[in-house]
Amino acid sequence: MLESMEQVFLTRQPEQVHLRRMQESDLEQVYQIEVAGQPAPWPSWYFRRQLRDGASCWVLESGRTIAGFGIISFSGDQAHIMNLGVAPAYRRRGLGRRLMSHLLGVAREQHCRHVWLEVRRTNRPAILLYRELGFRMKEILKGYYATRDGTQSGLLMSRPVAMHSAES
Ligand SMILES: CC(C)(COP(=O)(O)OP(=O)(O)OC[C@H]1O[C@@H](n2cnc3c(N)ncnc32)[C@H](O)[C@@H]1OP(=O)(O)O)[C@@H](O)C(=O)NCCC(=O)NCCS
Repeated sequence: MLESMEQVFLTRQPEQVHLRRMQESDLEQVYQIEVAGQPAPWPSWYFRRQLRDGASCWVLESGRTIAGFGIISFSGDQAHIMNLGVAPAYRRRGLGRRLMSHLLGVAREQHCRHVWLEVRRTNRPAILLYRELGFRMKEILKGYYATRDGTQSGLLMSRPVAMHSAES
């Protein structure tokens, strides 16, 4: 009991959560995070395809538990944040911000000039995170996302990769 309490305590410490590249063996846990966080989750095969097609895929790992993931792809000087998720038990500890900061760093290494993403219009936590990191709304994507009984709009948000503040 003491050991498991200690483990829970330790996993709450940000320094115990390590960032590394996603591997195929992570995909089951990554998919569970996706299902827990998205009304219309990506199918599991689509994550495998991202890995195999050369997207830059990262996870945050706490012990053997995947706490979050982030995926970014590149086209010319444009970077696209494809997906981001933090497991419900790990939210509001700065992990989403850490993943996003890392993805922005990867975009910088790739010499990208702009980074963009889509987000559901109702996804307040994600929109607040992106705004904090300097993303601004560029376009409303009408009917972009599926819902149980129809569709809902998304926002296209973007920012320059290089900014003087809000990068880390
Ligand atoms: C969006 C998501 C990735 C945020 O991850 P997180 O680790 O909880 O976020 P962080 O702890 O790094 O939060 C960073 C900032 O974002 C904002 N934020 C994040 N979650 C929030 C919430 N529930 N309510 C209000 N603001 C929130 C806050 O400004 C927060 O800073 P603060 O904690 O200092 O106030 C997470 O909620 C998630 O996985 N959601 C489901 C999947 C999803 O929506 N992915 C994005 C698809 S576009």
